[in-house]
Amino acid sequence: MNGFKDAGHLFRFAGLFVVAFLVFWVVRGFVVPKTFGQYGHYRAAAIAEYAARPVKFAGHQACEACHTDIASTKAGGPHARVNCEACHGALAKHAEDPTSLTPAKPDTAVLCARCHTASAAKPKNFPQVDPAEHSGGAPCQTCHNPHSPVIGATLAAKGGAQ
Ligand code: HEC
Ligand code: HEC
Ligand code: HEC
Ligand code: HEC
Repeated sequence: MNGFKDAGHLFRFAGLFVVAFLVFWVVRGFVVPKTFGQYGHYRAAAIAEYAARPVKFAGHQACEACHTDIASTKAGGPHARVNCEACHGALAKHAEDPTSLTPAKPDTAVLCARCHTASAAKPKNFPQVDPAEHSGGAPCQTCHNPHSPVIGATLAAKGGAQ
């Protein structure tokens, strides 16, 4: 077998490769979580961990069931599809037991500006203003009803319960 006369280095290399692979396999056994791959390319136990976390958002249907006046005001204005918790924050605790947590009124200087501050990155037909110039420093809710922000509609809503 003259052809293998100078092949020793190849066998040493192959041996090194096998050893490296075994080391990798042992280390992998320690570091890969036990339930990884049970259902797919992820850690199966993560599902139960996430399911055990407390729910933070109640969903707008829950809010609307109690705050029916606000729900109907909102349904008639341009914020019809902006849901309660997008502005009020996660309130599952309040929805479950209203007296356990009275939600703070959002600061409109921050809240409204977050969506409506003019920016070249926003679609041209989305209503945008330069908050300082537009409101002259007055809080947005002085003129706009947050739940139905078109001015004419605000006057109508203010005549009713508010
Ligand atoms: C089970 C009925 C119920 C549900 C569901 C509910 N609320 Fe309320 N909410 C109340 C009551 C009652 C009060 C008055 C509590 C108080 O004054 O301490 C209140 C107060 C509030 C206030 C403060 C009002 C103020 O005058 O400052 C806000 C804001 C509010 N709710 C928003 C929400 C939002 C948003 C949701 C949905 C995530 C929601 N509520 C779900 C019954 C409910
Ligand atoms: C676009 C943002 C926005 C959305 C959407 C929104 N709110 Fe409000 N809400 C506000 C702001 C801002 C105030 C505080 C107004 C103020 O300070 O006078 C407020 C006040 C309230 C109050 C206090 C009473 C009142 O009339 O001022 C309640 C209750 C309330 N919201 C419930 C809801 C519920 C329920 C929904 C969903 C049906 C909802 N809000 C959706 C921004 C919003
Ligand atoms: C989470 C994002 C969001 C927040 C926060 C928000 N808005 Fe809006 N607003 C919208 C969307 C979406 C529309 C509907 C845009 C459309 O119809 O193209 C809208 C529409 C409006 C309009 C109607 C403009 C028109 O000419 O049709 C006014 C006015 C307005 N918002 C004022 C406010 C004020 C005041 C606040 C704070 C109380 C506020 N918005 C908070 C998303 C938001
Ligand atoms: C002094 C009264 C006043 C104050 C304060 C005010 N607005 Fe307005 N806003 C108006 C009037 C008037 C219009 C035009 C009529 C309408 O669209 O309802 C308007 C229109 C808008 C529009 C629609 C612009 C468009 O191109 O369609 C947005 C968005 C808006 N305001 C957001 C805000 C925000 C955010 C604040 C707080 C930083 C604010 N406004 C404070 C009076 C006011």
